[in-house]
Amino acid sequence: MALVTGGADGVGLATALRFRKAGIAVAIADIDQGKAQARVDEGAADFAVRCDVSEEASVKAAIAALDERFGRLDAVVNNAGVGSAHKPTLEQEAAEFTRVLEVHLRGTFLMSRETIPLMLRSGGGAIVNISSIAGVVGLPRRNAYGAAKAGISQMTKSMACEFASRGIRVNAVAPGFIATALVTRLRDEGFVDFSRLFSRTPMGRLGEPAEIAEVIHFLCSPAASFVTGAVLSVDGGWSAFGDAGPAYDAQTPE
Ligand SMILES: NC(=O)c1ccc[n+]([C@@H]2O[C@H](COP(=O)([O-])OP(=O)(O)OC[C@H]3O[C@@H](n4cnc5c(N)ncnc54)[C@H](O)[C@@H]3O)[C@@H](O)[C@H]2O)c1
Repeated sequence: MALVTGGADGVGLATALRFRKAGIAVAIADIDQGKAQARVDEGAADFAVRCDVSEEASVKAAIAALDERFGRLDAVVNNAGVGSAHKPTLEQEAAEFTRVLEVHLRGTFLMSRETIPLMLRSGGGAIVNISSIAGVVGLPRRNAYGAAKAGISQMTKSMACEFASRGIRVNAVAPGFIATALVTRLRDEGFVDFSRLFSRTPMGRLGEPAEIAEVIHFLCSPAASFVTGAVLSVDGGWSAFGDAGPAYDAQTPE
């Protein structure tokens, strides 16, 4: 069975649906208990538990509830996340910086630490962490978010090396801009201009949550049995492009 944090919406919800499609039981752990339970009621997941991944006691309680219900765990997707405020650095507040790091980086650490014993007891497993293009290149004003995502990519590698011989694979996915509420919010608040974004993206569009879910499912599956410590870009070519000007201009016309 699989656990998806932040599974009540966006990429996490698409991932829960992908596991269900593969016949895998799935639990979602989300800070929004009402929305998470609604997902179970509508058939997107088997079990919902309220959890703030940044809080140690909340993570421990969620994993205890999961253990009691299923008694085993085969895959964990550390997906829960929040955006950051896009303020100029000189206006950024320490509390907000800390909160972003806590949800993403501390949350991924806590959830991994608490679930690994259960996966070891289950005979092994797979962790997939959600990084971002923001952890690969510099996105101005997004200090905390970029630092958290870069930290997640690095922690992915260190945990992968630590647990490889014990049957737990640890990988990360680094999405580009994906069509979820998080990105809609950025657009509505004026932080992302879609036409500029599309011209910067070789594939010229947003990714769909299901396209990220597909890769997460692959990394959790036996098809990825020799893959560990990888940070896989799923970004329509965004991180590959380093030329000046629009990515479209650099393409060979038909
Ligand atoms: N959407 C993108 O373009 C994009 C790009 C790169 C990476 N990501 C990453 O993908 C992940 C999912 O993003 P999304 O776009 O689907 O976001 P979303 O806002 O659509 O969904 C996030 C979910 O996480 C939950 N959540 C928030 N804080 C939490 C906490 N402290 N504990 C538990 N649950 C919490 C929310 O309730 C929500 O259900 C995040 O880690 C995000 O940083 C998203």
